[in-house]
Amino acid sequence: MDDVAIIRACAKVNLVLRVGPLRPDGYHELVTLIARLSLADILLIDRAERTTVSCPGLPGGDTLVTRALELLCESAGSDGGFHVHIDKRIPHGAGLGGGSADAAAALRFANELLPTPVIPAELVRIAAAIGSDVPALLHDEATLCRGRGEQVEVLGELPRAYVALAHPGRPLATRDVYRRYQPEARPLPAAIALPQTLDELAALIENDLAVPAEQLEPACAELRLGLLEAGARTAAVSGSGSVVFGLFATEQEAEGAIANLAGAAWKTTSTLGAR
Ligand code: C5P
Repeated sequence: MDDVAIIRACAKVNLVLRVGPLRPDGYHELVTLIARLSLADILLIDRAERTTVSCPGLPGGDTLVTRALELLCESAGSDGGFHVHIDKRIPHGAGLGGGSADAAAALRFANELLPTPVIPAELVRIAAAIGSDVPALLHDEATLCRGRGEQVEVLGELPRAYVALAHPGRPLATRDVYRRYQPEARPLPAAIALPQTLDELAALIENDLAVPAEQLEPACAELRLGLLEAGARTAAVSGSGSVVFGLFATEQEAEGAIANLAGAAWKTTSTLGAR
């Protein structure tokens, strides 16, 4: 285990998530602005004869990482594999992209360890085969994503901000939330500019999946209102939930809000941006 590398797989929040109609392939057309968080899973990774993943606390281990690394080795024509140990800190079924972030971080790092790494476009193809938000999570910066999420444009660094994260204790399944979503008539935005200030950032935040997520898990609405009462600039469900995030200017404000928030089974604060 001499060559074990330690890497961080940062969580994400969807600052904007606009969802269009259902496509014939079973996915929805969307436009989303994704930001990374300092909250991260820790991965220990080294080369092995075949790919194995251990992930205490996640029943059945982490299948996304296993599949991603198997596809990578196959594509690179490599006989060997990797061993990955995941120390889970990002809650599961939360809309924080935990499993996708682990897969993206493992892909990015493992590719560099291969004798003949795959080209960037192939890494993106493999990432998209694993999940719609995995290509975006190959990047540390904020990204604007289209299509089913796999068409990624890197926007850059966001203004400094802090989030308070609150989980009601019950995960939501992405598929269930999308299935309940009723597409609106208004068109998807053609572009979203990178916000330059905290006020611009707060004004942007919206999530089309908030309505179905809050219908399926009413505690999400209570947590959102609780964060707003505690002084959040704005608060919203992240992705398909069930985590709700509140936006704050300072770490102290975020921590103060979380300390007094009732009804959360899990809560923490985090910096906006992978750090
Ligand atoms: O791509 P991923 O496996 O992460 O998607 C999980 C589920 O979320 C899909 O099976 C689909 O039901 C839903 N989804 C969707 N439209 C998207 C992304 C995901 O309907 N753009």
